[in-house]
Amino acid sequence: MLESRAGVIFVGGIGFFLFAFVSNVVVPVLMYKDQPEKTAEEMVNSNVMYQFVELSKRYEEPFRQAFGEPTEENCAQALRLGRSLFVGEGCFHCHSQFVRPVSNESMRYGKVSSSDEYQNELQRPVLFGTRRVGPDLSRQGGRHGNDWHAAHFYHPQSIVPESVMPQYPWFFDGSPDKPNRRGIAMMTYMQWLGSWLDSYPYYEELDSIKSEGF
Ligand code: HEC
Repeated sequence: MLESRAGVIFVGGIGFFLFAFVSNVVVPVLMYKDQPEKTAEEMVNSNVMYQFVELSKRYEEPFRQAFGEPTEENCAQALRLGRSLFVGEGCFHCHSQFVRPVSNESMRYGKVSSSDEYQNELQRPVLFGTRRVGPDLSRQGGRHGNDWHAAHFYHPQSIVPESVMPQYPWFFDGSPDKPNRRGIAMMTYMQWLGSWLDSYPYYEELDSIKSEGF
């Protein structure tokens, strides 16, 4: 079969297409058919609620106007809006959401990403990203405080002078201490990323790396 041109085209074109279809579609569908996709509400946990309540205290009036009370339902709404802003603003052009099992990435970002982390509404479609102009964001939760994020979104260069990240003044009604609905939603979304892990392995691993003397 491989002696003829038609045979090569057949194996290369149709054969590998079928192989890819089986390995990338059929196998995952069978593997995950018993695992229902989680909703945004189900992805709200105590780590992200802690940050949502913190936002409601730090930016009392803007928060009340944007989301009212810091309830779990409102937190889920904020996460949905945060995700759609992440897509709409094109953050994924510069930030991935996938810690890869290569190049010792876990030393910088924490646990290597696993498929179960993507089995939820807020990862549909997934935001793996292909470019990393900025750091991976999948373990962003708890890494910076909300006030850091507010200052950073308002004017990244005021924190990292050489940063090429654009400014997002439309996340605010005037100054960085007045985030609007979009700003609060985006900060909640940032704090959610990785919050589903029992602890923040980033810090634990960093401690162990330090104690090993690296
Ligand atoms: C043109 C590329 C670019 C775009 C678009 C971009 N960023 Fe960034 N981002 C960067 C770079 C570079 C850094 C690292 C320097 C810095 O902290 O500003 C960064 C840093 C960050 C950090 C801090 C990460 C850390 O661990 O310290 C967060 C959070 C972040 N970006 C979120 C976002 C969000 C959300 C958006 C969309 C609203 C966005 N970025 C859009 C390039 C970009």
